Amino acid sequence: MSISQQIGKLKKRVQKRLKLPRLFILFLGAIAVLCFWVIPAFTQQPIPIKVFIQSLEGTQWEPIVRDFNQTHDNIRLEVIKGPNDTNLVEDLYTSAFLLGDSPYDLVYMDIVWVPKFAAAGWLMPLSDRISEAELSEYLQGDIEGGTYEDQLYRMPFRSDGGMLYYRTDMLEQAGLQPPKTFEELIQTAKTVKEKNIAEIGYVWQGKQYEGLSAMFVEILEGQGGYWVNPDTKEVGLDGKEAIQALEFLRDTIKTGISPEGVTTYAEEETRLLFESGKTLFLRNWPYVYPLASKSEIAGKFAIKPMIHSPGENSGACLGGWGPGISSSTKHPDEAWEVIEYLSQPDVQRKFFLETGYVPARKSLFTDPTLVAQYSYYPNLLDVVENSALRPPIAQYAQASDILQRYLSAAITGSLSPQQAMQAAARETRNLLGR
Ligand code: GLC
Repeated sequence: MSISQQIGKLKKRVQKRLKLPRLFILFLGAIAVLCFWVIPAFTQQPIPIKVFIQSLEGTQWEPIVRDFNQTHDNIRLEVIKGPNDTNLVEDLYTSAFLLGDSPYDLVYMDIVWVPKFAAAGWLMPLSDRISEAELSEYLQGDIEGGTYEDQLYRMPFRSDGGMLYYRTDMLEQAGLQPPKTFEELIQTAKTVKEKNIAEIGYVWQGKQYEGLSAMFVEILEGQGGYWVNPDTKEVGLDGKEAIQALEFLRDTIKTGISPEGVTTYAEEETRLLFESGKTLFLRNWPYVYPLASKSEIAGKFAIKPMIHSPGENSGACLGGWGPGISSSTKHPDEAWEVIEYLSQPDVQRKFFLETGYVPARKSLFTDPTLVAQYSYYPNLLDVVENSALRPPIAQYAQASDILQRYLSAAITGSLSPQQAMQAAARETRNLLGR
């Protein structure tokens, strides 16, 4: 072998040796890309964000949840459905928090739970996540209802206000107008019943639960009375207006315009009775409107602000729901991403079009698409802007519990309205340390 041949052989061997490590390095590189980018991208699980909601609304959220999950790979929004009574849902959230870390990342709250949940430290403050300008798009009452000690804990989603539903066809047949005062409601219902046009005069929520307190606030406001002054903590339940308010409720049963069963009805029972076609008047929230429009009374009813005493204002109790972030969630940013999504005007328009709930975002009350479907929306804005608040105090749940117990005792006949209101006032003063 010549020298040049030997050199050539040596070169080839060296080149072969060099090729192996290069291939090896390329191989390692490929593995790294697979491990750190490709496989995680395919196997990464979306972060679950859970929220517990009343059953009826949970079902109505299904399109939102579907749209959200289709457009967000990183998060999986999950709704767990609970009972329909607000205080049962509140109790279940409360037990979850008391037992330790809540399994829910978002807390979908009734306006009256906020002070208690915030005072207990169960919610994360939201004020740093949202600007004043964005908040000014919402109804003032809803912002205030979501605020505790100057911090926002609940983002407004939907507002609420009690209204009077009436059968337009029945009133027309009797030649009567919708009532404005308590007295007119009783007289009109009596006449329509006597003429056998309606079987039932008036249905309202008389079951011992939060809905009873909310409904009573409207009657109280319509009489010019008050429950608790949030600034002075003064209690007005034994005032003459409060006693008259309770007498009105008891009289609807005594005179037979309301069935005795009202003392066991929540929102849904009264809605179904109204939809069955037998009932002239119903007190309920605006969610009933689209549902009743699909029932046999479609096109035969209308809504108006609640009745009041002559010279007093119509009272609508401010209700409403919105999400907050649980202080025990491990994913506050993802929970906030859901809240931001829910706050988009387009998402809300779609939801309200479908459900007829009351918006909390002011511009939606005059939104042409929504007004085309619900012509009363602009008037509703006026109703909710002038609505009555349940006392925004941390002891609200106990105060409401006292009121519910005594209202129930009076409407079922075991105490007189005066005895009931005096006892309720006494217990409420004890609770508030007055
Ligand atoms: C509605 C209201 C809520 C109220 C409840 C009473 O859901 O939005 O604020 O507490 O009714 O039943």
